[in-house]
Amino acid sequence: MTDKKEVILSGIRPTGRLHYGNYFGAIRHFLRLQETDACCYYFIADYHALTTITERQEIYRATLDMLRTYVACGLDPYKSVIYRQSDLPCTAELSLLLGMLTNIGHLERGTTYKDKFTRLQEDPKSEGNPLSYGLLGYPVLMAADILIVRADLVPVGDDQRQHLEMACDIAAKFNHRFGEVLHIPRPLGRDALRLPGLDGSEKMGKSENNTLDLLDPPKTVLDKIKAVPTTTEPAPLDTDSNDPDIVIGKMPSGVGVLYRLLSLLAPEEVYLDYLDQYRKGGKFYGSLKKAVAEYASQFNAPIIESYNDPAHNDDFIKEFLRENAKRVTPVALETVERCREAMGIGHSLYRA
Ligand code: TRP
Repeated sequence: MTDKKEVILSGIRPTGRLHYGNYFGAIRHFLRLQETDACCYYFIADYHALTTITERQEIYRATLDMLRTYVACGLDPYKSVIYRQSDLPCTAELSLLLGMLTNIGHLERGTTYKDKFTRLQEDPKSEGNPLSYGLLGYPVLMAADILIVRADLVPVGDDQRQHLEMACDIAAKFNHRFGEVLHIPRPLGRDALRLPGLDGSEKMGKSENNTLDLLDPPKTVLDKIKAVPTTTEPAPLDTDSNDPDIVIGKMPSGVGVLYRLLSLLAPEEVYLDYLDQYRKGGKFYGSLKKAVAEYASQFNAPIIESYNDPAHNDDFIKEFLRENAKRVTPVALETVERCREAMGIGHSLYRA
C-alpha cells in the first residue's frame, strides 16, 4: 500500500440485516472498487450508531452479523481494509480536535440534526433520547473518519452528501488556520441508486419497514413481493425509452419497484419482455411478481449459503477485524499526531 494509490473510504452504520437498498446503493460499488488497485477502507460506524441509542442495544452483535453479510456478498476483508470504527479510537481524538474549529451554527444546519430537531418541536414525546451533543457532532465525527485515513474519494449516497461537504469545509478551515495538514477528498458522491421501498414509497429503509433483505429465504421473498401494492392497471408510458431510470417513474409506484428490481436482477431480455407486456396492458402482475421473486431468491441463495458457512463464524470476523485494525491504526495515528503538532499541543508522549 503506497501513498500513491487512490484511497477510498466509506462507512455504514450497523443497522442489522442488510437489504437490497444497501446492496445496490453501496455494497455493489464496494465490490467493484475492491477489484481496482485503490486502497479501500470500509468500516462499520458503531460510534455513530450510539447517536440513536436509547438503551443498551446489541451493537456489537449487529456489527458482527453485518460483517458476515458483507463477506457473504463477496467483500474480501484481506483485499479491502474492513474495520470497526471503534477499533480506531484515535478517530474520537481527531473528532475532538476538529470540534474545536467547527461552528455550532454550521452543525445546526446538518440534516440529521435538523430533522430530529424539527420532529421534536412538532412532537416533544416522539423520540426516546434527547438532542444530544453526539448527534449535533455527528458530522464532525464523520469528518474525522474521512480525514484520518487521508481519503481521496468517499462514495456516499445522496443523504450523506451534505455531511461529506461539511467534512471538506472543516478540513479546509483546519488547513487555513494550521497549515496544509489534512488531505481534502474530492467532493464527489457516487451516482447512487436510490431503491424504492416494497411499499412503493421513495426509499427502501430499515426504519420504513419496507425492505427486501439479502438473507430473506424464498418463502419470505415471495410473501414480500406478493404484498407489493399493484392495484393500478398499466397506464400509457408516454416514452419510447426502455431505460429503467426513465420508465419506472412513470409507472404506479408499487409497479415501478417491481420493474426496478427486475432490471437489476433479471437478464435484459426478461426485463424488456415485461416492459413490452406493460405497454400492451392486460393482466400480468401475478406473473411479474413471481418472476421478480424468483430472481431475487436466486440472487439471495449464494449469499445465504456463504453466510451460513461455518468458516465465516465470529472468530473469523474478529480475526480480520484485529488484523485490519492493525493495518489502519498507523495511518490514522500519523494523521492525529500531525494535527496535534499543527495545533500546538505536540505529540502524545505516551504513544511515542
Ligand atoms: N453517516 C453515514 C451514514 O449514516 C455513515 C458514516 C459514518 C460514513 N462515517 C462515515 C460514511 C464516513 C462515509 C464516510 O450512512
